[in-house]
Amino acid sequence: MTLLSLNRLTKSFGGLTAVNNVSFQVEGGSIVGLIGPNGAGKTTVFNLITGIYRPNQGEIIFNDGSIVGQPTHRIVSLGIARTFQTIRLFQNLSVLENVLSGCHCRMKSGSLAAMLRLPSQKKEERRAVERALGALTFVGLESQAEQLARNLSYGNQRLLEIARALATEPQLLILDEPAGGMNEQETGALITLIRRLRDRGITVLLIEHDMSLVMRVCERIVVLEYGAKIAEGEPAAIKADPKVIEAYLGTEENE
Ligand SMILES: Nc1ncnc2c1ncn2[C@@H]1O[C@H](COP(=O)(O)OP(=O)(O)OP(=O)(O)O)[C@@H](O)[C@H]1O
Ligand SMILES: [Mg+2]
Repeated sequence: MTLLSLNRLTKSFGGLTAVNNVSFQVEGGSIVGLIGPNGAGKTTVFNLITGIYRPNQGEIIFNDGSIVGQPTHRIVSLGIARTFQTIRLFQNLSVLENVLSGCHCRMKSGSLAAMLRLPSQKKEERRAVERALGALTFVGLESQAEQLARNLSYGNQRLLEIARALATEPQLLILDEPAGGMNEQETGALITLIRRLRDRGITVLLIEHDMSLVMRVCERIVVLEYGAKIAEGEPAAIKADPKVIEAYLGTEENE
């Protein structure tokens, strides 16, 4: 079943078309990679999906409903969570508090209940803590729950971002360069974690420059260049696609 469908999406910034008429689908339960050279429009696609930008044209269908024009918090509560290319944590809060900051979309009581500290509120808070600890356990950070985020290694900060996204109980998790800054060992563990996410029923869409990770973990790959989709398919076919090879060789020559 198709979980997410992008149909002819276009997003321009002034005269620059960052995303140009892009369409692709993400099947529920799959791991899909979105790749392409620097500036190809990958993060912009994520920003369109999560409601940070509104497309100039095109549709985004999640679970059969359009999400274009919905505010980000609503999109999160519908079941889409993300991590960011540049780590965005509250560095001076604890690991647990960072994860709790992701839990609010699943809490029902309003701020009045919070102010009065009603029993319903306390119960929800307890449940949020349980969910946050569950997410930390899933990524292997439970023993560091009380640490300040800034004391974690870079690789563990990336895992903490995944835990925070997980705490919103997403159906679709989108990861923007999750292996960025990780060493080889951390990347290996990340691959295992991404597969475990999928085995838990979470669909994963990821952007990544580490081609070995992409080729090992993704079942399908979509390739962007200059905002447009130039290829889509299974890893073996993408690796052998002359258009893809040229897109990447082109950037190496330019660098
Ligand atoms: N808010 C913005 N305002 C103006 N231009 C933008 C904005 N966001 C992105 N762009 C431009 O759109 C293009 C695509 O950017 P995007 O960040 O989506 O690329 P990317 O594929 O994620 O690249 P990278 O691999 O370097 O992260 C770039 O030329 C970028 O400069
Ligand atoms: Mg990017």
